[in-house]
Amino acid sequence: MNTTIYSRIYIAFAVLFYATTATSQPQMQLTIKTDQQGGVIDKNIYGHFSEHLGRCIYDGFWVDSSLNIHKKDRIRLDIVEALKKIHVPLLRWPGGCFADEYHWRDGIGLRSTRPKRVNTTWGMITDDNSFGTAEFLELTNLIGCEPYIAGNLGTGTPQEMANWVEYLNYSGQSSLADQRRQNGYEQPYHVSFWGVGNESWGCGGNMTPDFYADQYKRYASFCKDYPGSPLKKIASGSNSDDYNWTEVCMKKIPSWQMWGISLHYYTVVGTWEHKGSATKFGEDEYFNAIKNCLFMEELVQKHSAIMDKYDPGKKISLCVDEWGVWTDVEPGTNPAFLYQQNSMRDAILAASTLNIFNNHSERVRMACLAQTVNVLQSLILTNKEKMILTPTYHVFDLFKVHQDANLLLVSFASPDYAYNGNKIPAVNVSASKDKNGIVHISLVNTDPHHSIDISTTLPGFQFNSISGQLLHAANFTDINSFEVPNLVRPEAFNGFKKDAGHISIKLPALSIVVLEIK
Ligand code: AHR
Repeated sequence: MNTTIYSRIYIAFAVLFYATTATSQPQMQLTIKTDQQGGVIDKNIYGHFSEHLGRCIYDGFWVDSSLNIHKKDRIRLDIVEALKKIHVPLLRWPGGCFADEYHWRDGIGLRSTRPKRVNTTWGMITDDNSFGTAEFLELTNLIGCEPYIAGNLGTGTPQEMANWVEYLNYSGQSSLADQRRQNGYEQPYHVSFWGVGNESWGCGGNMTPDFYADQYKRYASFCKDYPGSPLKKIASGSNSDDYNWTEVCMKKIPSWQMWGISLHYYTVVGTWEHKGSATKFGEDEYFNAIKNCLFMEELVQKHSAIMDKYDPGKKISLCVDEWGVWTDVEPGTNPAFLYQQNSMRDAILAASTLNIFNNHSERVRMACLAQTVNVLQSLILTNKEKMILTPTYHVFDLFKVHQDANLLLVSFASPDYAYNGNKIPAVNVSASKDKNGIVHISLVNTDPHHSIDISTTLPGFQFNSISGQLLHAANFTDINSFEVPNLVRPEAFNGFKKDAGHISIKLPALSIVVLEIK
């Protein structure tokens, strides 16, 4: 009798012990198929967006001459250096919604004679047009990235857009090319990426997809490829899961007229009226933000499936040229300026999104995080002479190794991150092999409570050394501030062990790790 009771108690304890250790030490098998390459991860997936909005351009990139920092003209060079370090490949400008009310002739020539305009979309403030075409192209030149210009389809004309292309790209004799020369630019700029309108379903003109597709064809017909400057024209695409928009554009616009079609998706935690704080939130908001960000996977899959119907050869790119988390503005700041802080949560969100883009790089060939400086999910925040790098900046720094590398297929079954009766995958991963044969694996653990033991194999890949970098914080609300600018920053990662062709990784809770294997 006693023996039976003791053995039952023993079994109960054993089950309890097993259950506790099993939940606290989730396990995962990861296989990196180094022999099955998924094509090139276009570096332009790591692109960014800069709009005439709040303090992104004015008092962001472009500052008052009296500000006591290194500048070229009025461009902040500390920002330029930071962006060069993470190899920013592409920058989109001048909007956003602003693009469909921007007239490029306002921003060329002598600055003192440029007209002042009201930025009717973002706060009814005066734009003195001191930052225009030449200033933007000087900025992209300093960063060493491709310019991506969003043309005005909403309040412009096909002729205005076509003239901008000619002004920038024509090397021969014409009044427009000569005007560029008079403004000091002898050589054409060869701007190849052109957006034809922005959010034409909304701020860009509230159009139907049918109407927009017809307008697109009209505008695109007159924007010409000048010698040495073939254009990559990008249609204004869907708002989130508006699959009909993609369907209609793909059906109506011939593939030879469209290099890409865009997709805009922002991660919003609450409602558009009450989006929640960027810094003060609990696990419910954290969980929902990550869940909503992972919706990008479904969006990319479903929009790609529609594109596959009309373009099975995958010639047309899906350009996610606005993405990121959108929260309430920081208290005390202008609500129209969209200035928000940036936390470890946002770093997890950025890394997870970039893993999705990498894994779909056969269709996603360009993306722009919104927006680079002082607006929405910024890489950089400034306060007069001071500048800080956000947790999101560090993600782009760690992930730059994937740019133009060959995607490697991965296989794994993630443990769950469970919260309040809901669950999402705790782990997301992507991997690539660069031109030197080095393999990089980016791993994200979205679970803030449990580290995860990952047993990794790379069949057929001989390697001698492994090193890693880790981005981690004690709390998902941790931020870099002007007072404590380096609370969240990358450090060396040593949580791995090599055992005869297989790697054991202990992926810390709430972390991002990038491994280099060679
Ligand atoms: O990034 C801010 C705004 O969000 C852009 O101007 C617009 O395109 C989108 O709605």
